[in-house]
Amino acid sequence: MAKVKTSFFCQNCGAQSPKWVGKCNSCGEWNTFVEEIVERESSSVASFLTGTGNQPKLLHEVSSENTERIDTCNQELNRVLGGGLVPGSMVLIGGEPGIGKSTLVLQLALDLKNKKILYVSGEESIQQIKIRAQRLQKENQNCYFLSETSLEHILAQSKQVVPELLIIDSIQTVSTESIESSPGSVGQIRECTSGILKYAKENNVPVILIGHITKEGSLAGPKVLEHIVDTVLQFEGENQYMYRILRAIKNRFGSTSELGIFEMGNSGLREVSNPSELLINRAHEGLSGTAIAAAIEGIRPLLIEIQALVSTAAYGTPQRSSTGFDLRRLNMLLAVLEKRAGFKLATKDVFLNIAGGIKVDDPAIDLTVITAILSSNFDLPIRKNVCFAGEIGLSGEIRAVNRLEQRIAEAEKLGFDSIFIPKAGKGINLQKFKIEILQFDRVELFFRHVFRKNS
Ligand code: TYD
Ligand code: MG
Repeated sequence: MAKVKTSFFCQNCGAQSPKWVGKCNSCGEWNTFVEEIVERESSSVASFLTGTGNQPKLLHEVSSENTERIDTCNQELNRVLGGGLVPGSMVLIGGEPGIGKSTLVLQLALDLKNKKILYVSGEESIQQIKIRAQRLQKENQNCYFLSETSLEHILAQSKQVVPELLIIDSIQTVSTESIESSPGSVGQIRECTSGILKYAKENNVPVILIGHITKEGSLAGPKVLEHIVDTVLQFEGENQYMYRILRAIKNRFGSTSELGIFEMGNSGLREVSNPSELLINRAHEGLSGTAIAAAIEGIRPLLIEIQALVSTAAYGTPQRSSTGFDLRRLNMLLAVLEKRAGFKLATKDVFLNIAGGIKVDDPAIDLTVITAILSSNFDLPIRKNVCFAGEIGLSGEIRAVNRLEQRIAEAEKLGFDSIFIPKAGKGINLQKFKIEILQFDRVELFFRHVFRKNS
């Protein structure tokens, strides 16, 4: 009788240990080790000996006819995937519950009319999917739906249906009989993903997996999963706002700086091909505390509106709060304003908000942030049709930013009259732009110029 072999797995990162340990050595989390049964696969050794399996080949012997990408009929998704789905590849879409992962893949399944699709859901019944499809007002005669959680059944059904795309709504709900731990545990997830991967590679079928995300924002449990799959996409956004951003975290077939933007509406997700126009509310123009940044998200230029409110602190300790912008960076910028430009903000409450509920990591929005803060502080509105791009250094210098020409071009395209930027380096050709370009390298001079013209 085969001896049952067990091992302990960290539920956070998937690290394995022969004994229970309190703290995981690889990710540092406490109390994450759970005992799981691992079954030894005797068949794998047998296949080595009999010599079955793949043979080594030279590159010119490999046919490239199957490498054509599948158009997903969704420009934003295509962009993030690097030009479409690669046959035989495995894509993992992660995101918090309720963000719209199921909606995104169902829309994809219903839009791809010329491909045979198998959509497996372990979370919803077929009736629930139908209700959602009705809400999306879409139909597809080529898409089969299956409500199932057993890996063995899913693979058996796939062999019968022979889909050209397999979608599995939540890998965490799928489980295999070959190991005994509960669904959603690291062992199960790894085993099921490997099983599906084998199916995908053998049949050259692309697979889209959906994965949940923990509160800390990492893909629940399986860091292991990120290694197995070819592409990891993250779907993010704030629940109360309608914008959703699809970001590539890992992509074996494309760039990871690509970004797709969607808007969640009553009948599903809409692709947003020109996000800047939606993120700027021109009705606020003329009010103090609002400034527009020429930002870059991923590799896309994006004009965003930044709002600040500065008021005298009612209580002893002034409040600093920010939405969509790093609070520590805000504090740093306030310190620079105080120390380098002499603005007394230490006794003021400062609130900062990036419109549209998006989070921006681009340091080039610093210049816009301080402009909005001072605009609110002195109640001086910024001129209409002006935007900014520049990073602020600790000594009050305005530092160069990447993709400057792209930012200027986007501002020009959207009808802005002027843009404030850092002193441009040699390689940058500013002659070709019609928009007024104002270059500054110190915040003091910059402020004098920005606030002079409109008072
Ligand atoms: P869902 O795709 O179920 O999220 P996930 O699979 O990531 O958990 O999306 C659920 C949310 O989306 C839900 O709160 C309702 C909203 N929604 C819309 O606003 N419009 C729609 O057309 C659909 C289908 C969902
Ligand atoms: Mg879902």
